Amino acid sequence: MSKEVIIEVKEVSKRFGSTVALNRVNIVIRRGEIHGLIGENGSGKSTVTSIIAGMQDADNGEMFYKGEAWKPENMIYALDKGIGMIVQESGTVPGISVAENIFLGESEQFRRAGIVSRRQMVKEAQKALDSIGAGHISAAMPTGALDFQNRKLVEIARVMRKNPEVLVVDETTTALSQMGRDIIYGICKKMKEENKAVIFISHDLDEIMNECDALTVLRDGKIIVTFNKDEFDENKIKTSMIGRELEGDYYRSDYDDTYGKEVVLEVKNAQYQDKLKDFNLKLHKGEILGVGGLSHCGMHTLGKILFGATKPESGEVLVEGRSIKNEADAMKHGIGYVSKDRDYESLCLNASIEDNISAGGLDKFAAKGFFIAPGSEKKYVEKQINDLSIKCQDRKQYVSALSGGNKQKVVFGKWIGRGSEILVLDCPTRGVDIGVKQAMYQLMFKMKQEGKSIVIISEEMAELIGMADRILIMKDGKSTGEFMRSDRPKESDIIHCMI
Ligand SMILES: Nc1ncnc2c1ncn2[C@@H]1O[C@H](COP(=O)(O)OP(=O)(O)O)[C@@H](O)[C@H]1O
Ligand SMILES: [Mg+2]
Repeated sequence: MSKEVIIEVKEVSKRFGSTVALNRVNIVIRRGEIHGLIGENGSGKSTVTSIIAGMQDADNGEMFYKGEAWKPENMIYALDKGIGMIVQESGTVPGISVAENIFLGESEQFRRAGIVSRRQMVKEAQKALDSIGAGHISAAMPTGALDFQNRKLVEIARVMRKNPEVLVVDETTTALSQMGRDIIYGICKKMKEENKAVIFISHDLDEIMNECDALTVLRDGKIIVTFNKDEFDENKIKTSMIGRELEGDYYRSDYDDTYGKEVVLEVKNAQYQDKLKDFNLKLHKGEILGVGGLSHCGMHTLGKILFGATKPESGEVLVEGRSIKNEADAMKHGIGYVSKDRDYESLCLNASIEDNISAGGLDKFAAKGFFIAPGSEKKYVEKQINDLSIKCQDRKQYVSALSGGNKQKVVFGKWIGRGSEILVLDCPTRGVDIGVKQAMYQLMFKMKQEGKSIVIISEEMAELIGMADRILIMKDGKSTGEFMRSDRPKESDIIHCMI
């Protein structure tokens, strides 16, 4: 007997620039069901659920909720109507109290004779916290003083206080301790018993198989298959998650993995929170080393540690046999770093292309120590703009006005111009279009041929297979597999080490 449908998503599509995030997605969510969503990073899980929960609009397609057309104007509206979402990122406002977060946009109900009664609000908020088992958090506290887990619990209390009929949990559990997880599992079970519904996103296959009654697999913005609990089969699920073909010929075409014997950068027994556990790595001269894994595997932390931006709690990073202390030290030793969060960490948006590119190369033309000859700076920057074909009006244009792909080229220009011998690239092609990607791949390959060494951290397996001499896969802060280019590794072999 089929359970009653509560949400239906029909032919929903969504693009971000040239990225097709969702391609005619159809999903049916039933009452009394915890419905899992699984798929590689970037497969569209957050996008589809955030559309259901009113955070953004679809470009095409339609949705139905309790049999009626559903087009929520925002998340507060959706929650009012019974659809709540715990988002993947931080979902609370740091500058206000816990109580104010719980009653965000609803403090009016505590207004008496023109004044909002904080005491009343705190009292009610505390009840909401207590009722989900988070009574250890005080509703009067400033939210900014809480750690990630407790801020998540505040978010959960806010959503649950509205007694939703559909709850979306987006990759929340992996970042929580067992206590936080148990709270979420408990809430999900209770909702199921009350004949409500949960959409549960996780990249932990064991967790999904344990907690969910049905499971839908997404890949590249498409729904691949839905399994009911009695059809759950680890291998079948894994196989349906993979299988993307290498498209186009914009990767390097050889299957050669020759590189130097000399180790140029080494990580020795690095330990950092739960992100890196006694981690070791060697990068060789002329090597492109690919590092891959699922979102919380530790690979982005690894990138920061390689550049000295994060200091391991124990263990060390060695370049030329010397331990790297900080970013300045890393740069002095010829290491360049392109961060995943490029707008915030790699570029100064409110400055010109010239200022950004020359900030990386300053010591190259400040030959006399202090003064920069304006002519040499101009030539230098224009060479980078040309070499990378950065699309801009001129070198004085502000970086904030460039497209994502061109911003990324400026970041590359900054480090390449500096003559970096080692580049650490964290998701360098994220959000850039195919043309720019291709230019970056060519550049990486050229650098390799010049004897430079590259670590490319990527969420895209095709890119790792397409470009790396050697691929290292991480899971839970440890390396779980190593693949050589000459063995022509397949996605299916690699993904087994990730999940
Ligand atoms: N706001 C955004 N701007 C640009 N691209 C985005 C945005 N949100 C998502 N994307 C892209 O859409 C695709 C799907 O992303 P997402 O739904 O977050 O995947 P998942 O949650 O499965 O990891 C990815 O390629 C991602 O880079
Ligand atoms: Mg997501």
